[in-house]
Amino acid sequence: HPLNVKKEKLFFCLFRSSDLIQRALMDNDFMKHLEHGQILTIMDCMRPTSLTKGCCVIQEGDDGSTVYVLEEGMVEVTKEGKKLCSIGPGKVFGELAILYNCTRTATVTALTDIKLWAIDRQDFQTIMMRTGLIKYSQY
Ligand code: CMP
Repeated sequence: HPLNVKKEKLFFCLFRSSDLIQRALMDNDFMKHLEHGQILTIMDCMRPTSLTKGCCVIQEGDDGSTVYVLEEGMVEVTKEGKKLCSIGPGKVFGELAILYNCTRTATVTALTDIKLWAIDRQDFQTIMMRTGLIKYSQY
């Protein structure tokens, strides 16, 4: 039945996306030490967005409010107009301003149409703090 095929596809896409997000978080130097529960909660709070080629995702010097996981496409990282690197699917970016409470350290531009998962600073910090507090209260 076509509806069942659609459901299967949707299920597959969700499964694939959550797998990608989980791998991306565990691949990131700052996030690989998170507990499994924290990773699951972050995944729960992430929402999908898409942007077209050429869009500026992050502007150097801005206040940062979002951490991203790239699902599809490529982005370029530049600092003071100089190219630092390109980032492909399955990578976290935009984490530094949130983790260090500083302004955006670089500009990130979409080299192609892109699909992203995004989590707000507030949610991100609440998850970190809540699990921190729970841990603390156990001692
Ligand atoms: P943030 O500073 O929040 O916003 C810009 C993002 O670009 C930054 O987080 C990192 O995720 C990324 N970034 C900054 N510098 C580099 C670099 N040298 N190599 C790769 N990614 C970087």
